[in-house]
Amino acid sequence: MPITTCVFDAYGTLFDVAAAARQAATEPDFPQLQDNWAALANHWRLKQLQYTWLRAITGAPCGFWQVTQDGLDWALEATGLEGDAKLRQRLLDLYWELQAYPEVPAMLTALKKAGLQTAILSNGSPDMLTGAVQSAGIGALLDDVLSVESVGIFKPDSRVYDLEGQRFDCRNDEVLFVSSNGWDAAGAAGYGFTTAWVNRAAEPVDRLPWKPNHILSDLTTIPDLATA
Ligand code: LAC
Repeated sequence: MPITTCVFDAYGTLFDVAAAARQAATEPDFPQLQDNWAALANHWRLKQLQYTWLRAITGAPCGFWQVTQDGLDWALEATGLEGDAKLRQRLLDLYWELQAYPEVPAMLTALKKAGLQTAILSNGSPDMLTGAVQSAGIGALLDDVLSVESVGIFKPDSRVYDLEGQRFDCRNDEVLFVSSNGWDAAGAAGYGFTTAWVNRAAEPVDRLPWKPNHILSDLTTIPDLATA
């Protein structure tokens, strides 16, 4: 079946999650970040994601903003920056206005020109996603922004992927699901979506029962893929 709908993961896929630490490291108030912003960003992201899975498994639900703060607190301690309240607040503020990857606006514009439906499907809370979409200026290029908050569970639970079918009138194999998270692309492939894994860091493929249909190094070829 031809693709009718492109659904994007948000954090790490459309929005650069390392941008908060990278940006803060350039600011005169935070020289302590200059050498370790990348390590901090990496720890932050990994802990944030681990906490989504651990909270789901243990039945201790919370929102994405909570795991974002908890992940940052772990990362600050791991990099010797715990107790720096000003830095913590600046990093959290920057998370609400993460930069989109440079190719995102042109890629979404091409999809809309081709008549495809576009949406975000993210662990992010509606408020966080509104902030990021507005700051990237891509709201007009998206038909909807779907948050897991309405189902109270994080990806890759199938109830999250169900949100797409509840919003758009199309079959699973008409959906191109795009994520930079290998586990998310795998989960969506298991669910039945056509999937593209955006593997910017050239990481190995996740050892899971499902594999992405496509592996890309960035988002520029998504319109070609979706209209092929
Ligand atoms: C999201 C996270 C998983 O946006 O990147 O859902």
